[in-house]
Amino acid sequence: MEWRCILQTVDFKRIWTKPNPKHNVPTKWNWVVSYPENLQLGKYVDIGAFTYLQAQKRIVISDNVEIGSHCSIYSVNTIDGTSGIVFIMEGAQIGSHSTILPGVTIGKNSKVGAHSLVNKNVLDNTIVVGVPAKKIGENSHV
Ligand SMILES: CC(C)(COP(=O)(O)OP(=O)(O)OC[C@H]1O[C@@H](n2cnc3c(N)ncnc32)[C@H](O)[C@@H]1OP(=O)(O)O)[C@@H](O)C(=O)NCCC(=O)NCCS
Repeated sequence: MEWRCILQTVDFKRIWTKPNPKHNVPTKWNWVVSYPENLQLGKYVDIGAFTYLQAQKRIVISDNVEIGSHCSIYSVNTIDGTSGIVFIMEGAQIGSHSTILPGVTIGKNSKVGAHSLVNKNVLDNTIVVGVPAKKIGENSHV
């Protein structure tokens, strides 16, 4: 099992190419970004289909981040009138259908459970879940 995971990681890294997204146009992986000039993407970032990134005030995604499908990441939130840079730090994993609000930092090697609403910073190596997201544990697999 462990070897299979290692092989999958190697394959992904071998085929990874830096995306060049256009404003509000689905990429070939079917995720969409508004204001792509304000999206900073690290190496080996994996973003799932139907994820939306609102990068008007800047979104910074570091190396080896994995974002599931159907997530929403907002640097501007027109409903609550908030805005701020979103940082997703190295190795963090965001479960599918999660929402990240403006100004939030997701720490290194942290995990966000599927269907979470993240409205506060998440420390490094932390697992959070729920609406709003709360800590349930620490990521010891790093
Ligand atoms: C958050 C997550 C990483 C936790 O995994 P884990 O550390 O193995 O945790 P467990 O499954 O032991 O669950 C611990 C507790 O959190 C709850 N929980 C787990 N994931 C949850 C979630 N997404 N939302 C709400 N509660 C959750 C469990 O019900 C359990 O509660 P209990 O202690 O009251 O029974 C995982 O459940 C998850 O959501 N992964 C994302 C998967 C995904 O989206 N994949 C697609 C993208 S590739």
